[in-house]
This record gives sequence, structure tokens and C-alpha cells, in this order.
Amino acid sequence: MNKRYITTPIYYVNDIPHIGHAYTTIIADSLARFYRLKGYDTFFLTGTDEHGQKIEQAALSRGKNPKEYADIVSAKFRSLWDEFDISYDYFIRTTDENHKKGAQKAFEVMFEKGDIYKGEYEGHYCVSCETFFTDMQLINAELCPDCGRTTTLVKEDSYFFRLSAYQDKLLKWYEEVDDCVIPKAKKNEVINFVKQGLRDLSITRTSFDWGIKLPSSLSDSKHVLYVWLDALVNYLSALGYGTDEKNMSFWPASFHIVGKDILRFHGIYWPAFLMSLNLPLPKHIAAHGWWTRNGEKMSKSKGNVVNPREVAEAYGLENFRYFLLREVPFGQDGDFSQKALIDRINSDLGNELGNLLNRIIGMSGKYADFKLDSADVLKYHQKEIDAADTILEGAQSYIEELYTNKYLEELWKVLTIANQSIALYEPWNKIKEGKKDEALALVALSANLLAKAAVLLSPIMPKTADKIANALGFKIDTDTYNRLILKKELLKKTILTPTEPLFPRVEKELMSSPEPVTQPKEESKKEFISIDKFFACEIKIGTITKAEAIEKSDRLLKLSVDLGEAKERQIISGIRAYYEPAVLIGTQVCVVANLKPAKIMGLESEGMILTAEDKDGLSLIRPENTKAKGALIK
Ligand code: MSP
Repeated sequence: MNKRYITTPIYYVNDIPHIGHAYTTIIADSLARFYRLKGYDTFFLTGTDEHGQKIEQAALSRGKNPKEYADIVSAKFRSLWDEFDISYDYFIRTTDENHKKGAQKAFEVMFEKGDIYKGEYEGHYCVSCETFFTDMQLINAELCPDCGRTTTLVKEDSYFFRLSAYQDKLLKWYEEVDDCVIPKAKKNEVINFVKQGLRDLSITRTSFDWGIKLPSSLSDSKHVLYVWLDALVNYLSALGYGTDEKNMSFWPASFHIVGKDILRFHGIYWPAFLMSLNLPLPKHIAAHGWWTRNGEKMSKSKGNVVNPREVAEAYGLENFRYFLLREVPFGQDGDFSQKALIDRINSDLGNELGNLLNRIIGMSGKYADFKLDSADVLKYHQKEIDAADTILEGAQSYIEELYTNKYLEELWKVLTIANQSIALYEPWNKIKEGKKDEALALVALSANLLAKAAVLLSPIMPKTADKIANALGFKIDTDTYNRLILKKELLKKTILTPTEPLFPRVEKELMSSPEPVTQPKEESKKEFISIDKFFACEIKIGTITKAEAIEKSDRLLKLSVDLGEAKERQIISGIRAYYEPAVLIGTQVCVVANLKPAKIMGLESEGMILTAEDKDGLSLIRPENTKAKGALIK
């Protein structure tokens, strides 16, 4: 039997579920339902990622021990997915014993293969992204290039994975397997990253405890596994890798569905680990874009994070699912606004889908006592049926490539054929003209088109599709899929059942908006800031009084800068490649004076010096003529 293995990322337990988590999970759920509908043996995995420094810190800040805390948040994810009727086959937690064994086995296999060696790691670490960065990658010598938060300098014993040894093999894989990473644009980003050169990867940490210990065979209890190695192995341990391997027949994964921010881990580290483990590589790693709200990035501080439960309660879960999968092309960023959601509900769902069902039931009640017979459909409407069958046959390749928006567009084309046929053939006039068989054939045509579309809509809107099927007197399952879609058959004789309108019109926004949107969408996309925001940043003139190179760093200089204050500032600046320390003494520079002090390479930095960089290099921004120390830049 054909098998499919579909995964979501496992979610960090430092945050409650938001629209981004719901999006990935709903795409994966729809795909799993699609393959089950086709009769494939499908395994759908989701779960929570519970180890690492970020979770440890989140737990401690709430006065909880990490496991206690992980239990609470993991249960929140699980209960939301249950409420959302997410059809996962297994919910993994990285604190599960089976998972720990799987992760330790993976480490052992890679170690025995010679792909892991011991050394010392020195570099920057972003706890929020759980990612290591080199000096060169940082923004302003200290900020994480991915999330912009301050990184910490880490110097500790570490085991390394020989990622560099897999660079060519990875490039070969990308070349040979066209759709190993989708969409194409994202694949190109991965290839470019790998082409820049891969460094070996630190895969253990010693400065905290909250992680999986190394396998006992290594007798090295100081280390815990790097959380990304731990997390990625979940895709194997969930199938029993390292314990009871009975579900390993589902490997390799058919689809790892991930957000674009974590593609590097899935598209580079994960296949390299798998090569080291001598396991086949996933068929598709599919990266989706990010959701914004009313054109703005969501963040807890703005209070504009979309809570999926709230949306589902206000607008209906299935409508929300439809919106998420219809609104954005896979891979692109999407914007959540109540207006857009309401438009989809009233127009696509209400006018085109719900009304079609009502009209079919109304006409069949009036003309045939709710009896439906497809006998004359091909006699009068072969053309319409053929067109619909062809569309539905082709539509399936879209969902198989995750282009759910195109998939739904195709299904809606079939609804349009039905709606247009009713308008064109005017069955009410046929009845008046005494052509009842033609009128009934038209009703049956519309019912068949709706039924076929409903079968393929069922992975996206399972309950709605079932309601349509109930009303039209059939059941949605693999057998029906085979008959109506694969073999292109028509509905058997049935009796239709009147039903409540599926999509009552939504007249006004049903959730209180977190922030009034003042800018038109295009404007807000440009992310203008107010003058107050600019003035919140104090930029002052300062004179450099001392400058010296920092040992072990080819980027950084340690500067003393006089801003006319009681004490000079120590500023660590990444300008070493462009300026000899001696030439800087006495020069005036622009300093961001109210920046939160940060530690860079263990040294306190009390401000930031402004520079400009282009292809010719980097230059300091200096006043045209000497200005008083501390003069404010406006
Ligand atoms: N724990 C890791 C994944 C490990 S998988 C082996 C992780 N977790 S996460 O909870 O931070 O993020 C999970 C997913 O949510 C990611 O795929 C991420 O892209 C997605 N999203 C987070 N915010 C998002 C939006 N605003 N929009 C869409 N998806 C976003 O990363």
C-alpha cells in the first residue's frame, strides 16, 4: 500500500499556539486528510519541542521547573489541536523517553561513523533562535541576524558534527532531486547558503542542563544535546527509531512542512544528519511564509498576535481553515485581517458554495420532491461534466505540491460551471416550457458538480464537505473518491435533504481588533515610523579618545568615546577591518547613546557608532566640522 509520512515542526513550549502554528498544522492536516481520502496509509506527526536554554529560561522566569512548565504548555498545544480536530496519528514530546533513546542512538551512530569530534566552541549564541553565529554574521557585532535580539558570547567544550564534510553531497542532492525543497525560490536560498561554505556544527552544550544527555557509551555527562539535533531527530524517534522500530516503514518523510525561518535547519542540517545515519532523505521539505496582521508583524509587545482559537470561535473553524489555505500562495507571506476573512466567507463560501447547495435543494424540492437521478445528465450535459472532471483531475497535483490556494481555485471553477449552468439553462423556464426532464438533468448536473467538488474539498473543510454530502445523500470516503473522482462516475439515485444555510452572512467584524489600522495597507507595508520614534533614539556626537584591537577578533575594536559626560563610554565596534586604531584617535563620530549596554566578546559596550556600508566597504559617519561633544543629532 502507498505510504505517506507528513510532519509539522514540533512547537517550542515557550509560547502559546498562534496563527503561525495553526497554519502549519492545518496545511499538514489537510494534506494528511487528502492522502487518506485517496486510500494511502498515512502517518501524520506533530508535537512539542521542550528542551534547550530558551525553554529553561522561560520556565525559570515563571518560577517553574522546565518539565512542569513543558507539561503545561505542551498540553495547551495538544488540546488546541484536539479542539481543531487535527487528525494527527502521533503527538511527540521531546521529553518522552522513547524520543530521548532515539536521539541518543542517532548521536551514537554519527559518532561511530566518525562524523562527531570533540573540541571547543567559541562564538555567539542567540537563545531565542537557539542558533550559533559567527562574528561576521552578527548585526552591529552583537545582534542576531535572524531575530535582532542580543546574542551572548559562548565559550565551552563541545562536540562538533562534521557538517563541512557534507557540503558537496548536499549540493548534489539539491541538484539531483528537483523538488526536494519547495518552493523553488526557497530552494535557491538554501543552495546559496550552502555554496558560501558550511562550518562544522556544535551539537552539544555544557552551560546548562535542560536537554538530553549524551549516550552512556561516551561517558561524558557534562554535555546535553544541542536542541536542534534533539528536535530534528523527533521525525525518526516518532516512528520508533532507537526503540520499537515498527513504524520505520513510513520513513522517508513525504513532507516536512516548516516555516521559512527554520528552513536552514531542515534543508541543510537535517539531510546531512540523515546522510550520516545512512538513512534515505525526505521527499519534500516544504517551506511556507509568515503571517502578518493588518500588514504588521505580529508581536506580543504590540498585542496583535492572532489567537487561532479566538478566530475559530468568532468565524468558525472551517471558514478559518479555508481562509488560511486559500488566501496565500504557499511559500509567500500572508496577511490576516478580519476584512479579508469576512470577504472570503461571504463571497467564496456563502455566494458560490452555500448558495449553490441551497439552489439545488430548492429546485429539486420544487420539481422532483427531493429525488435526484443522474440518468439524463450525460445526455444534456456531457460537456460540463467532462470539463469538471478534467479540472478536478488536474487540481490534485496542486495540493500535492502544497499549492492549496490553486487547488481551491480549481475546485471553485467547478462550482462556477454549476452556477453558470443554472443561470444559462434556466430550469424554471424549462419547467414552464414543459421540458421537465431537461430541468431535472440540470439539477442533477449541478448536484454532481457540487458533489465532486465536495469530495476534494473534504481535506480542507471536512465537516462542511460532510454536510454537503449528507444533504446530497452520499458519503465521503475513499470509495466515493474512487468512483466520483478517479473513475469520473456520477451520483447514484438519492434523496436530497434540506439543510440549514452553511455560511450565514457575516455583516461586521466579530473580534475586537487589537489596534486600529490607521495607514492604508500599502503605506503600512513601508513601515514608516513617527518622528517620536526617531527621537526616542538619542544620537550624539562623541570624540574617540582611545582605540585598541581586541585579541582574538579580527572585526572588533575597543574604543573610548567622550560624549561630554562625566565618564567616557567604552564602545565595542566592528570596524577593525576598515580602520587602524591609531588613526581614529581624536576623530568625531555619531553614537547611539541610549542603546541598552551589551556584552560583546565579554566586554561591556555602552553605545553604538554609526557607519554606512556598501560594496566599496564601510565608513564612519562623521560631522562635517567639529561639533561640541554630546551635541544631539536631529
Ligand atoms: N521548535 C522549532 C521547530 C523544530 S522542528 C524539528 C520551532 N518552533 S516554533 O514554535 O518557534 O515555530 C514553529 C513554526 O511556527 C515554524 O515553522 C515557524 O515558521 C512557524 N511560525 C512562527 N510564527 C509564524 C508566523 N507569524 N507565520 C507563520 N508561521 C510562523 O521553530
